[in-house]
Amino acid sequence: MFKIQTLNKIDPIGLKNFPLDQYEIASEFATPDGIVVRSQKMHDMELPSSLKAIARAGAGVNNIPLEKCTDQGIVVFNTPGANAHAVKELVIAGMLLSSRGIAQSIEWAKTLIGKGDEVPALVEAGKKNYGGNEIRGKKLAVIGLGAIGVLIANAAQALGMEVIGYDPYISVKQAWKLSRNIKRAEGIEVLLSDADYVTINIPQTAETKGYINKDKLKMMKDGVRILNFARGGLINNADMNQALESGKVACYVTDFPDEEVLKMKNVIAIPHLGASTEESEQNCAIMAVNQVRDYLENGNIVNS
Ligand code: MLT
Repeated sequence: MFKIQTLNKIDPIGLKNFPLDQYEIASEFATPDGIVVRSQKMHDMELPSSLKAIARAGAGVNNIPLEKCTDQGIVVFNTPGANAHAVKELVIAGMLLSSRGIAQSIEWAKTLIGKGDEVPALVEAGKKNYGGNEIRGKKLAVIGLGAIGVLIANAAQALGMEVIGYDPYISVKQAWKLSRNIKRAEGIEVLLSDADYVTINIPQTAETKGYINKDKLKMMKDGVRILNFARGGLINNADMNQALESGKVACYVTDFPDEEVLKMKNVIAIPHLGASTEESEQNCAIMAVNQVRDYLENGNIVNS
């Protein structure tokens, strides 16, 4: 019998029809064989010597102490693509939120409660403050052509946007195989120079920390809207703040609010909901447990 420990928010419902005859799944074991984790930071956790594998139910692995795992011979998996549709949908929603004054106008509409018969006239008078722009015909730059980036690019194209992609880690040739119908930029400067919207969808590593900084912001056109549903640390907050203050960036939509970000102007902050759909939580939980299971049973390593 293998013991798989689940840390925070691994959807037990997602696993209810899962054939786990040879497994015990619980949130606590003294000697787990595997751990499945969502966003909980594991850096300060003692990793028991029984532990052979950790699966991250999600794409990013920055909550897992990778070096410690390597030293202890623990294999680490993630679940690329399993939550990609959920993230894609929220990125598209983010573009619409930043372009149509949706959130602000909903708040304003609530202030009309109690105004009785005057409401229709007040709506007519007030709605002029919330006009916006269409995303159709606008240019979207997609940084990162992994599962999420490619889905965003395809969805945006279906909405009539002009999409241009770039991936700092895969060559143009590889990106071509993954995303045949996406026009690709040869370099970051070309990509950013005339995009109306920029979405960043790369992992946060030591190399990509602060990836969107003053140099990249300078390459962008005035009034650009930036969407970050990847990781907060990809953005240099001080540089972003300055770009928002000057109007260089018209809106920053982020799934990673912190005190600093929440104080910035023209920010739309969503509380890390990119992957939070029932469907994506189930997909991730099942894929993560499967990875651990396949490794424990057969020694197979996929997506480590
Ligand atoms: C991811 O890395 O895929 C997301 O952060 C998943 C999550 O929200 O847990």
